[in-house]
Amino acid sequence: MLTVRGLNTEYPSQKGPAVKAAQDVTFEVPAGKFFTLLGPSGCGKTTTLRSIAGLERPVSGEIVVNGRVVFSSERKIFIPPNQRNFGMVFQSYAIWPHMTVFANAAFPLEVRKNKMSKSEIREKVMRVLSAVALEQYADREATKLSGGQQQRLALARALVMEPELLLLDEPLSNLDAKLRDRMRFELKRIQRELGITTIYVTHDQGEALALSHEIAVMNEGRIVQVGPPRTIYEHPRTKFVAEFIGTTNFIDGVVLGFDEPAGRWKVRTPAGDLLVSTDSALTPNMRVTVSIRPEDVELSDDATTSGSTENVTSGLVDQKVFLGDFVDFQVQIGDFMLLSRAHPSLRTPIGETIHVRMNPDKCVAIPEDSSARAAA
Ligand SMILES: Nc1ncnc2c1ncn2[C@@H]1O[C@H](COP(=O)(O)OP(=O)(O)OP(=O)(O)O)[C@@H](O)[C@H]1O
Ligand SMILES: [Mg+2]
Repeated sequence: MLTVRGLNTEYPSQKGPAVKAAQDVTFEVPAGKFFTLLGPSGCGKTTTLRSIAGLERPVSGEIVVNGRVVFSSERKIFIPPNQRNFGMVFQSYAIWPHMTVFANAAFPLEVRKNKMSKSEIREKVMRVLSAVALEQYADREATKLSGGQQQRLALARALVMEPELLLLDEPLSNLDAKLRDRMRFELKRIQRELGITTIYVTHDQGEALALSHEIAVMNEGRIVQVGPPRTIYEHPRTKFVAEFIGTTNFIDGVVLGFDEPAGRWKVRTPAGDLLVSTDSALTPNMRVTVSIRPEDVELSDDATTSGSTENVTSGLVDQKVFLGDFVDFQVQIGDFMLLSRAHPSLRTPIGETIHVRMNPDKCVAIPEDSSARAAA
């Protein structure tokens, strides 16, 4: 279990005030879970990870791993990185050339103070090499591996110490798309099999959604929302989170009031009056943005097929783009242009009327003043 509390990490700058790279970062990761820090470039992901590793010394805060305080500003505790027993793989992983796969993986054990016996090392190394499916390459020179194999070797080297915590900073970024997809599965399998608590850093929302038990979305040094992938995707608390995690329609509106029969708030928008769901406290006349994902905008040629009458309207097909397994429609509703991702069987021609349903469960109302730093 990892607990990070009130972490602030700064970098001195030549001129002007220090760069506040991580601000009041707080989260908890239960043992054996896969936790991801997700956010745009420069938001403080690497800084947070390096602070956990002990490669940066935070200005304040506390880091506790399995009951052991590795950093506390208040108690003046700073355990150096080599005594934290964490495994790390960085974006630019370094494979040692002129060394075999085996020697690369064995290196962290060879340089350890209390050295193990040769046979002990051999057993541990072969075990991690087999976990990453490289055991048959043990004697090959490391540079003669493919990119994905080198990546797995870097992972094996991080795992060989049997770390309490695995810290991964965009470890798949050097791979082409296909290999990255495969490595994602591998990584998840290895993590699950070894049950190792993992902190993963990425700016790729697809990767975060696919791999994580929980995601912390970061912006400008702060965590803006923490939750399981589905919650983050379906119930973004802020516009920043909604937009960063996938594509969405933002429809600005004003709260009309609470609709008793429907048991929901109703919002007046340029795309019609919409019943919405929300995690925020709404009040009449409040300005909100309704976020609905393109795949949740249901289209049909026939007004009667949808069954429900809630959030049903019609528009004109303005554009469509065929993408193989789906078709993206742009539908004009009054002055508003709505994006919908539909099944390719829908063939409504451009210029024709189309019926639109926006499931109230999927219409998430976000108050306008919920800044990017709303509480997690
Ligand atoms: N050594 C450093 N000295 C000064 N400023 C730094 C240093 N390292 C990072 N920063 C600044 O701190 C902020 C956070 O950087 P960080 O590397 O943590 O971002 P990141 O989220 O990992 O971004 P990326 O996705 O591009 O890797 C940025 O504004 C960056 O410019
Ligand atoms: Mg980074």
